Amino acid sequence: MTSDLILKLEGIASAYGKIDAVKGIDLEVKRGQIVTLLGANGAGKTTTLKTISGLVRAKAGRVLFEGQDITAMAAHEIARAGVVHVPEGRHVLRGLSVRENLELGAFTVKDAALRKERLDQVFAQFPILKTRANSDGSLLSGGEQQMLAIGRALMHGPKIVLLDEPSMGLAPKLVLETMRIVKRLNEAGTTILLVEQNARLALRLAHYGYVLESGVIRLEGEASQLSADPSIVQAYLGS
Ligand SMILES: Nc1ncnc2c1ncn2[C@@H]1O[C@H](COP(=O)(O)OP(=O)(O)OP(=O)(O)O)[C@@H](O)[C@H]1O
Ligand SMILES: [Mg+2]
Repeated sequence: MTSDLILKLEGIASAYGKIDAVKGIDLEVKRGQIVTLLGANGAGKTTTLKTISGLVRAKAGRVLFEGQDITAMAAHEIARAGVVHVPEGRHVLRGLSVRENLELGAFTVKDAALRKERLDQVFAQFPILKTRANSDGSLLSGGEQQMLAIGRALMHGPKIVLLDEPSMGLAPKLVLETMRIVKRLNEAGTTILLVEQNARLALRLAHYGYVLESGVIRLEGEASQLSADPSIVQAYLGS
């Protein structure tokens, strides 16, 4: 395996009881890239992310992170190793301040000085969160809550972030703002595996893309190639 490969899925299959959600997929993420995983509702995108982060156990195949087999590792160990999942929905904890929500994100970080440093970094990246540090997290706007969810992931000091539909439920202007945040995060050095329903936007950001259909990879390629592919445009990008 080459060292510029940070994440590799080999023949990953995952099921919920008798429902086969992911049916043996191969996927690679190079260090420093944004790779997007596209597909219709129910294609298996979330299940793929959950399998990587240890929330769903693979039925077959292997997940390699920096060459190490993490398939059987516990979710908190996977997070500690540097693979951090930002789940669908924003999961901001009501009754906790923005600062407390962020600190909760750093549960894997034992060193108090490092936690403080990370908090300062998140506040520098998202000044609005600093302004609202003592407000209840659930009072933030949808876009701000998405920043908080991403900020919470950054508290772990991730090497790769698994982002599940960060733009879901946001107004169009905030969708664009969220995509800019994802881009900045990547430019600051974080590798990203991005699940998006908005294929057009995701392909504009990403270096490489995979199209998942009923648990199987139907297509993959450079993002620029995929967005120019007539069959993709018709099936996934609309008019
Ligand atoms: N907890 C669960 N129990 C049973 N079946 C599930 C569960 N979660 C997902 N599934 C099924 O697994 C398949 C893949 O679902 P998954 O959530 O991974 O799709 P997705 O691509 O993320 O879809 P969406 O775009 O709607 O978020 C679907 O058929 C779904 O109904
Ligand atoms: Mg999903």
